[in-house]
Amino acid sequence: MQKTILIIGACGQIGTELTIELRKKYGSENVIASDIREGGESLMQSGPFELLDATDYSAVEDVVMHYEIDEIYLMAAMLSATAEKFPMRAWNLNMNSLFHVLNLAKEKKISKVFWPSSIAVFGPNTPKEDTPQNTIMEPSTVYGISKQSGERWCEYYHKKYGVDVRSVRYPGLISWKTMPGGGTTDYAVDIYHEALKNGSYECFLKADTQLPMMYMDDAIRATISLMEVPSEKVKVRSSYNLNGMSFNPEDIAESIKKHIPDFSISYEPDFRQEIADSWPSSIDDTPARNEWGWQPEYDLDQTTAEMLGNLKK
Ligand SMILES: NC(=O)c1ccc[n+]([C@@H]2O[C@H](COP(=O)([O-])OP(=O)(O)OC[C@H]3O[C@@H](n4cnc5c(N)ncnc54)[C@H](O)[C@@H]3O)[C@@H](O)[C@H]2O)c1
Repeated sequence: MQKTILIIGACGQIGTELTIELRKKYGSENVIASDIREGGESLMQSGPFELLDATDYSAVEDVVMHYEIDEIYLMAAMLSATAEKFPMRAWNLNMNSLFHVLNLAKEKKISKVFWPSSIAVFGPNTPKEDTPQNTIMEPSTVYGISKQSGERWCEYYHKKYGVDVRSVRYPGLISWKTMPGGGTTDYAVDIYHEALKNGSYECFLKADTQLPMMYMDDAIRATISLMEVPSEKVKVRSSYNLNGMSFNPEDIAESIKKHIPDFSISYEPDFRQEIADSWPSSIDDTPARNEWGWQPEYDLDQTTAEMLGNLKK
């Protein structure tokens, strides 16, 4: 049976590519993109679009009823760096949008929910290397606190009300189609743009700040595969650890030099250094691998080749 999908926050870094991929898979007319702003041409011209505020419950409900939506992917959020500047706005957006979608599922108006969490759920007391699925969390950022709370609520709605909600803790995502939206790992996208434009980059993190990262194609594949596995395979209803690769700014600069030998990097750490220092440097994603077969495909050098190749076009 054909299903109808709504993506909320579809014009962002992940939403744009996710919408296009879902449209290829389920048919353009069956995948409704929505956001508070219009998106890029490839998104706007490939299927239906609604201007929609994720914090307005009745507006979201109207769209769900109008299109007879079965599944929602909730991608609207305020990201880590921006959320430190606007704590209350971040909390309101990140939490209320999630409650609206979870409540629609509780009321059986939709049957399945995808909501992304982040490595920001971890904090300074978390083991940094190969951070396990279940460990000390204690996030120290506004964004991390909202993601940690969101995870608890997802698990609660699943246990108490049988809501089929699925989630992954995305690492920093690297992509070329859309610019990133105000996160701490944005440097790993900016650096490719600057390498091609100026041959140099001033990094807002220190040279040895190693963080978990992933190429966008892997992230989209993970998201759609998790949503497609039978419900009984999804044992974790808070959010799955998801590993791609781990590297620091120096590593990415070396990878770029293989294509642009004169490329140079300098370091001017700002407030984002403290956020990055509170996060893991690598992730253990054993449950995702065992329970629904997760396997990343892109390493750093493959990502660099894809980024430079596509941005040059
Ligand atoms: N990009 C990453 O590296 C990363 C890493 C971990 C987790 N995540 C999570 O993935 C999700 C998507 O992230 P992204 O990088 O695509 O973010 P983004 O900032 O690029 O996109 C978010 C989109 O939400 C929209 N939006 C903002 N407020 C809205 C509202 N009230 N109603 C409707 N739409 C609204 C924005 O216009 C934007 O298009 C977020 O939950 C984010 O926390 C992202």
